[in-house]
Amino acid sequence: MPNIATIPFTDQKPGTSGLRKKVVEFQQPHYAENFIQSVFDVIGAPAGATLIVGGDGRFHNRTVVQIAVRMAAANGFGRVVVGRGGILSTPAASHLIRKRAAFGGLILSASHNPGGPEGDFGIKYNVGNGGPAPEKITDAIFARTKTITQFSRLDGPDVDLDLEGEVSVGGMIVEVVDPVADYAALMETLFDFDAIRSMIARGFRLSFDAMHAVTGPYAHAILEQRLGAPQGTVVNGSPLEDFGGHHPDPNLVHAKELYDRMMAPDAPDFGAASDGDGDRNLIIGRGIFVTPSDSLAALAANAQLAPGYAGGLKGIARSMPTSQAADRVAAALGIPIFETPTGWKFFGTLLDAGMATICGEESAGTGSDHIREKDGLWAVLLWLNILAVRDVSVAELMTEHWRTYGRTYYARHDYEGLATEGADALMADLRARLAELPGRRLGDLVVGMADDFAYTDPTDGSASNRQGIRILFEGGSRIVFRLSGTGTEGATLRLYLERYEPADGRLELVTGEALAPLIAAAETLADIRTRTGREAPDVIT
Ligand code: G1P
Ligand code: ZN
Repeated sequence: MPNIATIPFTDQKPGTSGLRKKVVEFQQPHYAENFIQSVFDVIGAPAGATLIVGGDGRFHNRTVVQIAVRMAAANGFGRVVVGRGGILSTPAASHLIRKRAAFGGLILSASHNPGGPEGDFGIKYNVGNGGPAPEKITDAIFARTKTITQFSRLDGPDVDLDLEGEVSVGGMIVEVVDPVADYAALMETLFDFDAIRSMIARGFRLSFDAMHAVTGPYAHAILEQRLGAPQGTVVNGSPLEDFGGHHPDPNLVHAKELYDRMMAPDAPDFGAASDGDGDRNLIIGRGIFVTPSDSLAALAANAQLAPGYAGGLKGIARSMPTSQAADRVAAALGIPIFETPTGWKFFGTLLDAGMATICGEESAGTGSDHIREKDGLWAVLLWLNILAVRDVSVAELMTEHWRTYGRTYYARHDYEGLATEGADALMADLRARLAELPGRRLGDLVVGMADDFAYTDPTDGSASNRQGIRILFEGGSRIVFRLSGTGTEGATLRLYLERYEPADGRLELVTGEALAPLIAAAETLADIRTRTGREAPDVIT
């Protein structure tokens, strides 16, 4: 095998979602090669194994796909399945890994981070269940990157990534596949496409913002071609290497155009957006933004209306900072609710064990046991299926939901780029005072319970500590303080605020006003302004 000598980089530590760096760092000679070889060295795939390769189409995607293909050939893989153009959304890659019983997959993406020559790039390894590699594997990969001395790569011409079909690279088969077909077929098994098609034919209007990222081809194929939505339903539908210069992050800040369109008098009935690699979703009805936490609760409450979930749900899982709205649905359905640390990987074991069917995070991630990643278009299609069967608007559905379960007003305040010591001190001080908080009165709120969230995985007993400070008030409202685990500059403090109003309570408040007492309580508890030196959060979602 053509072995090439190399020297280690010291900074190839995979984060929550693989190795993420600036493109210029990935462009250093051997940078991608060292990481990919470290993955191959650690995973120990048997000779002849299948590997899935694809990414979100951002700048540098094609270059790294070619590198991965020739390295796989030199490392004993028998087959590499790659999406045409080097494209595979994260959910589509997760599905392909499962469908082809592949040993694993390399997903090239930096999710919702900006792209282009000045932007970010990333490589993530997913294991055979289709989900992100667990920490023991990513830790071993990192250890390997620090000692690596050579990598194996076959020399030769590039594979034509735009031509579907099979070619041989040094005896290994490279199969270029339609990136959409298998994923669209999976969606068709889960949802009642006829019902959605007929709702659209009756005049239901939708708008999907693909943010010039990977979901464009998927949304064109599924929403327009298969479900009959008129051309123009999908906006920003061609993937661009720099996402048109925007942050492909589907929230109220970066998808503001969609938000404005949905709040206009002639708004469509339903609006949605997805992120760079297609795993996040934003849902907006005419005149009503649905928080991701409420979306999870509403989807769980109505999922059995879609054929794929007609048998009911085994359980619901939400990350700890996600609002407790889903808990009330789980209680009504008589199924378990799991509260996990932040990050999709904690859902994987529950899904594998058949303990949960639907999962969600407040950061616009929702999904189910159909794959092992969150899935933006899946959430959109489940919403459409539910609306088609129930024949109601988003606003009607949410109003009825709140009248049944009560309403959880919710917001997340982010303070970005803080000095790490200051942010750590804020958390440490709060932590030190947790024991004295129960019973304390803050305005009209009385603290019922306060702790630093710890989690023990019910399937394998593994423990995760210090996952964020929870302050629960009597009556079901809550404040959570947590430091981001994905930031790249300084520290990001996330303050999660939720106010619970029971079904016979005040259901029509403006969110900002509804949360004012909680914002004041958070300030009293943590002295945020003084400690961060900030008058207001940088981002409110
Ligand atoms: C953020 C989100 C979290 C999500 C993660 C990866 O992590 O809050 O829900 O799983 O990105 O997409 P954080 O920066 O808060 O650690
Ligand atoms: Zn993403």
